[in-house]
Amino acid sequence: MKNTLECPTIIEVIRIATNMYNQGWDERNGGNISIILDDDEVNEYIPTTPIRKIDIGGICVKQLANKYILVTGTGKYFKNIQYNPEINLGIIRISSDGTSADLVWGLIDGKNPTSELPTHLENHAVRIDVDPKHRVVIHCHATHSMALSFVLPEDEDEITKTLWKMQTESIVVFPEGIGYVPWMVCGGKEIGDATAEKMKQYRYVIWGMHGVFGTGQTIDEAFGLIETVEKAATIYFLVKDNIRQSITNEQLKQVAEAFNLNYKKIL
Ligand code: 13P
Ligand code: ZN
Repeated sequence: MKNTLECPTIIEVIRIATNMYNQGWDERNGGNISIILDDDEVNEYIPTTPIRKIDIGGICVKQLANKYILVTGTGKYFKNIQYNPEINLGIIRISSDGTSADLVWGLIDGKNPTSELPTHLENHAVRIDVDPKHRVVIHCHATHSMALSFVLPEDEDEITKTLWKMQTESIVVFPEGIGYVPWMVCGGKEIGDATAEKMKQYRYVIWGMHGVFGTGQTIDEAFGLIETVEKAATIYFLVKDNIRQSITNEQLKQVAEAFNLNYKKIL
């Protein structure tokens, strides 16, 4: 078996975690990442002997049975992941009945995966049902995107339309719109259930007054979604008190037609 630290997904997670920290979206231990590893990568790089049991918070994720998932640890600082991946990251294998997991690599200080593991796993399960190639869930505290939840109505269609109108290409990147979960206590099954319900329809969900979740087949896709929404939200705060002209519903429909988009019909 090759050196686990040379596993391409681990290298990519270290790069993206560092990038997100540098954007200011992952202060302290804010945010968490999880990625389903593909079979080839597991066979080449990942040890399969169980080290210890991992509690997955009372959920059942049959879609993830026997899958290996790379996760960030709870309480781990994103700025430190690059310096010591074996302490800050872990790889778990979901049991064949989907109700528990074993740690097979990492988290060598005895800590657990992220406290948002129920949300991550439930999101993966739902997204795999929609898209069998789905692999990545990223949570972070993207500054302007979460700030939106303090000033816009708590209404997915209003939030979506606002963001579509803040740059021409928003509708191209997230034509299905974005989901919204009003404020809840984080870190358990309840908020996981609420988020996964939204993920049946959306690849991106805002947690009110907390942060955001982006998903995708690749890290680039999930991150690209998060940075595109964040860009639109940033423009919103730059212009909101001084708007003279804006993108109209008609113009958005023209973009949708030009790009042949299956967009949410809220215009
Ligand atoms: P963890 O440190 O447990 O990953 O929690 C961080 C966070 O952002 C909670 O929502
Ligand atoms: Zn958070």
